[in-house]
Amino acid sequence: MSSIKRIAVLTSGGDAPGMNAAVRAVVRTAIELGAEVFGAHHGYRGLVDGDLTPLAARDVGGIMQRGGTFLGSARLPGFRDIEVRRGALDRLADRGIGGLIAIGGNGTQTGAKSLSDMGFPVVGVASTIDNDLYGSDVTIGVDTALNVGLEAIDRLKVTASSHHRAFVVEVMGRDCGYLALMTGIAGGAEAICIPEVEADPEAVASEIRGAYERGKPHALVVAAEGSKYNANGLMEYCASQKGRLGFELRATILGHTQRGGVPTFADRMLATELGAAAAERLLRGEHGVLVGKIRGEIAATPFDEVAAKKKPLDPALMDLARVLAK
Ligand code: F6P
Repeated sequence: MSSIKRIAVLTSGGDAPGMNAAVRAVVRTAIELGAEVFGAHHGYRGLVDGDLTPLAARDVGGIMQRGGTFLGSARLPGFRDIEVRRGALDRLADRGIGGLIAIGGNGTQTGAKSLSDMGFPVVGVASTIDNDLYGSDVTIGVDTALNVGLEAIDRLKVTASSHHRAFVVEVMGRDCGYLALMTGIAGGAEAICIPEVEADPEAVASEIRGAYERGKPHALVVAAEGSKYNANGLMEYCASQKGRLGFELRATILGHTQRGGVPTFADRMLATELGAAAAERLLRGEHGVLVGKIRGEIAATPFDEVAAKKKPLDPALMDLARVLAK
């Protein structure tokens, strides 16, 4: 065991369904190991302002089934400033807190690394709907976001079929096409536009035409928000070619609906395992790492490696998407 007897936990960046289950697991595991836990409100802002609340086992009851994060979340670009971080470490020292668990995506783990580089013990937990974080094959929130996307696609197909319409559904993911690729495959899209692959709007248009020619009552494109041809990009292109293309495209942008879902079983379970593992590792003296799951096993990846590496999309899935879109 380490000498740490008090830890803080925070959720930061875009909220992700399952964050509450992760906090619950951190709190109850740490208490089991003899430590006290404080919750920091609104991410790193809570550290900077000293806005920290003690969390007992019962304080994290009844939250696992709720989306979002009961601790609140925020993005805090000012945390890049070393003076701001020194202030945060002072606030932690005021309370006798000797370790931190930071639950979030790339921005959160950058903040975690910067505190860790200053000598403070931090363990990260991989959580973002974008699934663009190196160090975990799947991150907390992804499964729920995929299911929200799929439900929307299924519904749109129903109305699209009634009217023989073509739709583009835009999903979140920032610069990563994972959500679009996976919902596009599982939702049976005619075409998928992702930032990782240069999109050709003419090829997308020909997939839509091809779907009608093959007798489909609808055509559906899934586009990642970060693709050049996201919903707006494709709408603009189609509008500029209207008479020639022979169909009208309608757009639905899912946006934040994908972040607000009730966490699925997979997300609650992943969050529970990662939260518990993070608390255990921190209190056993291991830090400066991101806790995630790699090939089905809990894995701790050093922050330096997380910061230096990018998680690529699986090329086999990209091929599969192309083959199945027929
Ligand atoms: O990182 C999660 C995410 O939902 C991205 O998919 C999206 O681009 C971004 O956050 C939106 O951020 P905000 O909620 O701050 O507008």
